[in-house]
Amino acid sequence: MSSSSQHFSNPAYAIETRIVQAPKDPTGSVVPPIYLSASFNQPGYEVSGEYGYQRSNNPTRATAEAALANVEGAEFALTYATGMAATAAALEIVRPGQTVIFCDQVYGGTYVLAEQILARRGVTIVYADDLNEWTAADMPANLGAILIESPTNPGLRVLDIEHAASLAHGAGAYLFVDNTFCTAYLQRPLELGADAVIYSATKYLGGHSDVLAGVVLANDPALYDHFKLVQREMGNPLSPFDSYSLLRGLKTLAIRMDRAQENTVRIRAFLESHPAIATVYYPGWYSPREAQIHARQSSGDGAVLTFEVADDVDLAVFRENLRLINYAVSLGSVETLLSHPATMTHEDITDEERARTGISERMLRLSVGIEAADDIMGDLDTALQEAVKDVPALGNF
Ligand SMILES: Cc1ncc(COP(=O)(O)O)c(C=O)c1O
Repeated sequence: MSSSSQHFSNPAYAIETRIVQAPKDPTGSVVPPIYLSASFNQPGYEVSGEYGYQRSNNPTRATAEAALANVEGAEFALTYATGMAATAAALEIVRPGQTVIFCDQVYGGTYVLAEQILARRGVTIVYADDLNEWTAADMPANLGAILIESPTNPGLRVLDIEHAASLAHGAGAYLFVDNTFCTAYLQRPLELGADAVIYSATKYLGGHSDVLAGVVLANDPALYDHFKLVQREMGNPLSPFDSYSLLRGLKTLAIRMDRAQENTVRIRAFLESHPAIATVYYPGWYSPREAQIHARQSSGDGAVLTFEVADDVDLAVFRENLRLINYAVSLGSVETLLSHPATMTHEDITDEERARTGISERMLRLSVGIEAADDIMGDLDTALQEAVKDVPALGNF
């Protein structure tokens, strides 16, 4: 494996410390430099240096990968141009004739990748309504991989990662966990038996809505070879500049997460008591069993809330009256983002599939940022009052 697999930091350090660390630059620079060079001088004929061509290796990318592996406690990290590229790299390991099981409410882009690219390649796609209830007897004969998210998007259902790992491994398949919503700060799937962890680092890891990036992390050297081959030969590595942006954003992950989670606790209570809100979804809402699983495998609920507005709320008026909150896709950034899954992140999913998986037209997803919670609640309350004229203001936050 490459230098990115080497732990430069003390693994005994707390995760808050590891999040701030990156390999030291030989010049002594505290901040990792951005090496933009596409090509590197070689030491001689038939002798390759550590760096030759940017698509294969780059010092800034290697620094980001080492920092990410150190945070996750993984043997290696490889970074890609987007989260979707990281997901595609994982699923590239599945062969025609094999089956992939996805959890219900998998990210919309992953769904399209499965339906329009993997299926075309002769891979059978299966969606698990509740994988927690599935047993070894439910595994198809030629299973290639199981890919889950926990909590799911947008319904925030919880999947038991250890159980999913035992199902996958019992069938001789891989378990991939898209850990974008929690990050290693709250949940570490490799410790729970996953073969690889996938991130859209565009979200919490980068944290500022200014870089697209994807990461895969794993321990198995054979998986390293696979992921490296895809990164190099399918030509989708993270650029040096984006590697730097990701590293910079990563350093504040713990404090951003802490603050956003504190806000989320208050905003959830506010939404649950609001007369214009019908339902609030959060990890564990579905059943005491899911709450228990989430408490066992994660150290926090994260900072995404999904809610359904009551029937008398005019969705268009609500959106038009938001002043602070951004109406935009994505999540995991310092600013609060509100999205409408049915017409945004999950618009490519068929109406039947959306209905089956409970993604309703009245559902909105809030990625809570680090602003003052009172201001976020004030913005929601004002917009809800405008959208339903007789709703009393909850005010005085
Ligand atoms: C859970 C999850 N996985 C993967 C992705 C894809 O990431 P990217 O947009 O960086 O390609 C997203 C994007 O929203 C996501 O929410």
